[in-house]
Amino acid sequence: MNKYITTPIYYVNGEAHIGHAYTTFIADTVARYERLKGNKTYFLTGTDEHGQKIEESAKKNSKPIQEFADEISATFKNLWDELNISYSKFIRTTDEDHMVGVKKAFEVMYNKGDIYKDFYEGHYCVSCETFFPETQLIDGEFCPDCGRTTNVVKEESYFFRLSNYEDKLLKYYEDNPDFVLPCSRINEVKNFVKSGLRDLSVTRTSFTWGVKLPDFMGDDKHVMYVWLDALMNYITALGYGKDEENMEFWPASTQFVGKDILRFHAIYWPAFLMSLDLPLPKHIGVHGWWTRDGEKMSKSKGNVVAPKDVADTYGAENLRYFMLREVPFGQDGDFSQRALIDRINSELSNDLGNLLNRIIGMSGKYSDFLIDSIDVQKYHSKEIESMNKIIDSLDGFMQNLQIHRYLEELWKLFSLGNGVIQEFEPWVKMKEDKKDEALATVALVANILAKAAIMLSPAMPKTTAIIADTLNFEINNESYIELICNKKLLKLFNIKKTEPLFPRIDEPLMPEAPLQEPNKDESNKEKKEDDGLIEIGQFFETSLKVGTIIEAEIVPKSSKLLKLQVDLGEDKLRQVVAGIRKSYSVEDLIGTQACVVANLKPAKLMGMLSEGMLLAAKDDEGLSLIRPERPKKAGTPIG
Ligand code: MSP
Repeated sequence: MNKYITTPIYYVNGEAHIGHAYTTFIADTVARYERLKGNKTYFLTGTDEHGQKIEESAKKNSKPIQEFADEISATFKNLWDELNISYSKFIRTTDEDHMVGVKKAFEVMYNKGDIYKDFYEGHYCVSCETFFPETQLIDGEFCPDCGRTTNVVKEESYFFRLSNYEDKLLKYYEDNPDFVLPCSRINEVKNFVKSGLRDLSVTRTSFTWGVKLPDFMGDDKHVMYVWLDALMNYITALGYGKDEENMEFWPASTQFVGKDILRFHAIYWPAFLMSLDLPLPKHIGVHGWWTRDGEKMSKSKGNVVAPKDVADTYGAENLRYFMLREVPFGQDGDFSQRALIDRINSELSNDLGNLLNRIIGMSGKYSDFLIDSIDVQKYHSKEIESMNKIIDSLDGFMQNLQIHRYLEELWKLFSLGNGVIQEFEPWVKMKEDKKDEALATVALVANILAKAAIMLSPAMPKTTAIIADTLNFEINNESYIELICNKKLLKLFNIKKTEPLFPRIDEPLMPEAPLQEPNKDESNKEKKEDDGLIEIGQFFETSLKVGTIIEAEIVPKSSKLLKLQVDLGEDKLRQVVAGIRKSYSVEDLIGTQACVVANLKPAKLMGMLSEGMLLAAKDDEGLSLIRPERPKKAGTPIG
């Protein structure tokens, strides 16, 4: 069967963060799962490069637009390559083939009578690339979606007869209750449609960075609305309007989107497709929003999590596992190093890693790493049944995109494996001279792990390939059919010694996110995000002071942290927990001075309160504290 999985295409106005990585991880996992099952699968991702927002970002960066788009698009592509994303095609909306396809689609809709010319007068949010009627604006001025200032636009425009599709869309939602997953999300879509659809302005004349109208229209002034251009990527990638080479994959099986762009995918996109007489995607999978340490990520707060940094530090597949498992699909999630470390230590290291190590250890000790499954059925028919039951339940979760549940259930296999070892104590059987029984238990557990590795492979392809190699088999559609569908056992294991896959992690390996008071002035905050610059007043919101380090002590079990008592000229000393142990000894510090951020919200590090932060410069050679050139009174302000 053909399967077609897509991610949204990412705007090239900034580099990828973990929110983008999340959509891509989910889509990649589902695509790999379909391939494992033997389905012919096409997986699309790419970048969205037209529109006023990109034009403005390029200008701010003083770069020609195409060059700017090329650079950022490449960072996405490289990142996905580094994160082992198995896309079939990486589309760019500046690709010639895409633009040809968009023009063709426009022509078809126009010839159908769905596009007409008129005047548009309204409010436009450049950031969301969306028009809003005045009634929807906040305080008559601000975008209801992102809070930024909107611009009043009056221009000639072509319109798409969206209003004609109101009833058809509502009927489609009724007939296909699982069109949007999780199903609960369809209500907001229905309500939006029921409140009345206005025709959609689908061209612009106020800027030029976009796809031109088809030549036959002879109207050079207009470029296409970026969302029309962008949504079409899902079919132009398959050759729509050109060679149609891969149109056999249409309609898409699942199109993944974040909740913020559901409306575009569940209303505009189906309406465009209806106009093009093309079938609608089977599912729109909607995921929630990621925050960091409970706060919205933004460039100005400096708390954006770069997926590459986390992947390089903690392992790409560990991050991927964490994100897939941490959040029920559809709900919002929070990234924190603590939560990531906890999952690595408990689920990956304890449950999965331990099981593999125990198999390696026991097989080596009892039978020179060679284990066969001859007696498994005889001694463990009940456990085999439990194993099969867990495995049988998994597909349903994946089909409903409940990937967190899929992983949760899958983990029951590791509990089963570890439990079996505990219960049957092969080491006791060996002492009692019941080697057959002991080896049957080891073989059972090796089979449990082999099957679990197959089912885990879509989420952790590289890690499970190592596990399979350790057990001496390969994960592919053949082994899936034999071991999962036909429920066979692997006849013989020739087990290899492998280094532990998930070393335990004791403390955060990356600097913590700076903790800040949320900025009260929303519009100002958003302005900062756009150009990365701050006002002088914003700088002075940070209180920097000279501090004298009075006491310093080592934090047990931490190779990085020191606990300091710092005099900031206040009644009481401040406790500051700083990650500087690798560069400074206790003796180095006592009596010296440093620059301290004095108005940070207190935070806990390894259970200890930290009431400030020391400024330091960091490079490959380590940290160097920033200090006043000449000694100053404790508490002297810096600025
Ligand atoms: N270019 C449009 C999509 C066009 S698809 C035809 C766009 N791009 S985006 O780069 O702004 O966002 C791409 C995806 O990333 C969206 O699905 C969005 O929901 C997701 N995320 C962006 N920030 C996110 C989080 N903080 N958390 C989770 N996902 C987030 O919209």
